[in-house]
Amino acid sequence: MKKGPDRQIRRLLTGEKIPYYLLLLADETTEGINRYIYESDIYIIENEGRFIAVYVLQPVDSSVIEIKNIAVDREYQGQGIGLSLLSDAIRRAGEEGYSEIIIGTADLAARQISLYEKAGFKKYAIKKDFYLRLYPDPIIENGVQLRDMVMLKKVL
Ligand code: COA
Repeated sequence: MKKGPDRQIRRLLTGEKIPYYLLLLADETTEGINRYIYESDIYIIENEGRFIAVYVLQPVDSSVIEIKNIAVDREYQGQGIGLSLLSDAIRRAGEEGYSEIIIGTADLAARQISLYEKAGFKKYAIKKDFYLRLYPDPIIENGVQLRDMVMLKKVL
């Protein structure tokens, strides 16, 4: 088995099963995922016939594209795969002619934010009460209720 971040990343083909078990690591509900997944492109890493990592790209307009979801199977976290997914998304967005790539996460998600900053993203906006408005039930992480989303961007 290949180790490290050099695993092949490919687009999920039409008809292939959407890897909800991975997407749900990054998004609280299937309903939340279904709000964007059908208008997005899904990219995956496979290992021994199983999807182990995913990211999802959705155009916002003709110049901006958003990473709507990024997740690595727990067993494979902390090996640099997340960073390689981000690099792949950034490269792809540039090649496809977008001038900016954006990503949002909970303002309390310090580890995710630091990973995105490592990949060159910078904070530019807060979506106030995002999690209160979009999810019917409170989302509690580390004992604190999520409210606001922080948006980060990278100019390509
Ligand atoms: N949760 C959140 N961030 C994590 C993490 C975890 N379980 N594991 C690692 N990270 C972050 C940290 O910033 C870490 O840096 P550190 O080791 O200096 O703390 C960095 O990612 C490691 O980089 P890398 O090995 O490339 O990341 P990864 O392959 O573990 O992937 C995530 C990072 C966030 C995609 C992955 O941990 C994951 O799927 N988490 C759950 C889903 C999620 O939170 N997705 C983002 C939603 S906005």
